[in-house]
Order: sequence, then C-alpha cells, then structure tokens
Amino acid sequence: MVKVLFVCLGNICRSPMAEAVFRKMVVDAGLEKQIFIDSAATSSWEHGNPVHHGTRERLAKENISVKGMHSRTLEDKDLNNDYIVGMDESNIKNIIRFINGRKTGEVKMLLEYTGEKRGIADPWYTGDFDTTYNDVVKGCSALLKLIEKELENNN
Ligand code: 4NP
Repeated sequence: MVKVLFVCLGNICRSPMAEAVFRKMVVDAGLEKQIFIDSAATSSWEHGNPVHHGTRERLAKENISVKGMHSRTLEDKDLNNDYIVGMDESNIKNIIRFINGRKTGEVKMLLEYTGEKRGIADPWYTGDFDTTYNDVVKGCSALLKLIEKELENNN
C-alpha cells in the first residue's frame, strides 16, 4: 500500500481538489486497493468545514463528487504517509515545520512531479478554479505515473 497525503493551507480548495482528482485517476487505473489517498490542512482555520463551492463546482463539471469531505488539520498520524504533497512553497515550509525532523515520507510540491518547481495558485485568493484545476490534473497525472512505476518494481 502506497499512502499519499495532499496538503494545502485550508484543506477546502486545492488539497481536496487534488485528493478527489487523484482518487478518480487511481480508480480509473484500477489501483484503489494499492494507493491510499487523503488530504489535510497546515492550518486549523477551516477545520470541519466542507469543500469550497468553487472547487465543488469545478469538479462537478468532471462528474467528480466531493460529498462528505471536510477540512482537517495535519496530525501526527499523517507522518505515516509515503508522499506528503504540498501545493506551494509556503505549504512545504509549514509541513517541514510540522514534521520537525521526525521520520516520514517524501515531501514535495505537486508540480515538482511534472519537473516544474512552482506552486499551484490558491483560488481562495485568485478566484480562478480553472487554472488551479488544470495544474492539479497535470501534477496528479505525473505523480500517478511515478507511483505506478514504484508498484511495478515492487511486484
Ligand atoms: P486552500 O485555500 O489552502 O487551497 O484550501 C484556502 C482556504 C482558506 C483560507 C486560505 C486559503 N483561509 O484563509 O481561510
């Protein structure tokens, strides 16, 4: 089992989008028994709140549902992930501060898996859920390719 955690500031816009998009890709690839997917926030600001309507509406166009998902803050049990995937540089700084030297998985920004070292814009501020969605798809698709290779090598 490979465990992947998507992380952003509020866990209502970008990381739940990545969680839902990646889950659809994983199910479509028939790998849902081998890849566990979750998401969390570096802050507690939105703890318990549902996914932002902008993310929900953008994903509804792709027939992806975020029903029942809600924000939660990073916690110690999240250290057992193989991939802790932040959305931007600020997320990565906060994740590293949270980890505080403890043993955990690989910490990277989602778009690093595409070879680009840039963050994904926060639609909470930009209002542009399309650009964020396109970046999330790019990153998730590259991450899935990497994990597929890893799973093949373990077989
Ligand atoms: P996210 O966006 O990190 O992509 O979920 C944000 C959501 C909420 C806030 C900031 C960013 N906020 O300030 O509450």
